Amino acid sequence: MSTNSAATPGTAWDAPFRAVDRASFIPARAWANDDSGRLRPIDRDTDPETWSNVVASDLPIVTQIDDGATPWPEVRGQVSSSASQPSVVRTMLEALDVRDGQRVLEVGTGTGYNAALLAERLGSANVTTVDVDPALVADARASLTRVGYRPTVACADGLNGFPARAPYDRLICTASINVAGIPPAWLEQVAPGGIILTPWGTDYHNGVLVRLTVHNGHSASGSVVGDAAFMRLRAQRYPFGQAADMGEIIEASTEARESSTTITPTEVAFGDGSFAVGMRIPDVQKSIAYDDPDTFELLVYHVDSRSIATVNVSPEATAHGVYPVREIGPRSLWSEVTAAHDWWASLNRPARTRFGLTVDGGQHYVWLDVDDRRFQWKSP
Ligand SMILES: C[S@@+](CC[C@H](N)C(=O)[O-])C[C@H]1O[C@@H](n2cnc3c(N)ncnc32)[C@H](O)[C@@H]1O
Repeated sequence: MSTNSAATPGTAWDAPFRAVDRASFIPARAWANDDSGRLRPIDRDTDPETWSNVVASDLPIVTQIDDGATPWPEVRGQVSSSASQPSVVRTMLEALDVRDGQRVLEVGTGTGYNAALLAERLGSANVTTVDVDPALVADARASLTRVGYRPTVACADGLNGFPARAPYDRLICTASINVAGIPPAWLEQVAPGGIILTPWGTDYHNGVLVRLTVHNGHSASGSVVGDAAFMRLRAQRYPFGQAADMGEIIEASTEARESSTTITPTEVAFGDGSFAVGMRIPDVQKSIAYDDPDTFELLVYHVDSRSIATVNVSPEATAHGVYPVREIGPRSLWSEVTAAHDWWASLNRPARTRFGLTVDGGQHYVWLDVDDRRFQWKSP
C-alpha cells in the first residue's frame, strides 16, 4: 500500500514501535515476496538470515493461505492472513488518532502485532481484537501473552463488532470493506464522536483508507485519507482465480466484439481515475497482466453476467494513442468504463482524497468535497 494519509505524523507512536518487536509475532514459517515480487516461503530454522531480514524490512509477510488449507511451504491459492507492511501499520495507527485512555476495537487480529502496539500505547485493558480464524486467534493470543500484553482477544466475525466490550472510542479494521458494506454493528458500538478507520473499496478499485466519525448509532461520515490495499473481510471476498478464468474465457472466444479506444488505459487502471471509475461501476472487477512495464493487458469483468472486456497496451499502441479493445457478454464494459472515465474527467480529474463516505440508516453515500450525499449505494 502506498500512503498519503491526512493523519498528523505524531511521535506518540515512536515509543510503542520501539517497545514492540515485530519478530515476536511472525511465525517461524511464513511467506514473503522476493525481489521479483513472487511469493516465497521463509523459514527461521533453516534460513534465519533471510527470515530476519524480511521481518526487519518494510514488507508484508504472509502468514496464512486459503484459511490454512494450503500447507507451508506450498504457494498456491488466496492469501488469507498477513502481517501488514510496518509503514502501513504506522500510518493507520496515526490516522486512528487515539488519545490516552481510549478504548479500541481492532477487527482482524492476524499475528497480534497491531494489537500489541495498541496495548503498549493505551494499556491492554483498553484493547479488544477479534479475528474470524480460530488458529490465528490462538497464535496471536500466545504471542501477545509471551511478550506481556493481555488485550481481549476473541474469535469472532468482525462484521458483528464485539458487543460484549462496547462501547469503543475507536474501531480499526485491518481487512478491507466493500463499498456498501460498512457493518451496522460498528456504528452501534462506536460511541458518538468516535472514529472508524478502515480500508474500503469497490470491486474495481481496492482500495483506499476511510476515516469516519460516528454521529450516532446509525450514521457516520468522513473522507478518504490515504490508500490501503488490504485483503477483503472474509464474507466479502471473491472466489480465488476469477480473473484468470475470465481472461481465459475471453481469450478463447471467437465471438468477441472488437473495437478500439483512445482513453489512456493507465488512467483507468491506476490511481485517482481507477478509484473514480470504481465509484461509478462498483460491481465490475479489474485485473492487470504484465508482459513488461510497457506491455500489459487490462481485463475488466462482471462475473455474474459473464461480461468481459480487455484492452491491450503496447509501445506501438501507446505511440499512436489508440488501444485495441475486445468485449464479450451482455454488458459493454468498456463503454461503462469510458462513461465513468468521462464523468471523472468532466470534474477535472479530482484526487481520490477529495471523496468522502456517509453511512446513514444502512445506506452508503459517496460525495465529492462536501457531504451532499451525491452518489448512493444500497447495502447488499
Ligand atoms: C491483514 S490481516 C491483519 C493483520 C493484523 N492486524 C496484524 O497485525 O498482524 C487481515 C485479518 O483479517 C481477518 N479477517 C478476515 N475477515 C474477518 C472477519 N469477518 N472478522 C474478523 N477478522 C477477519 C483475517 O483472518 C486476517 O487475519
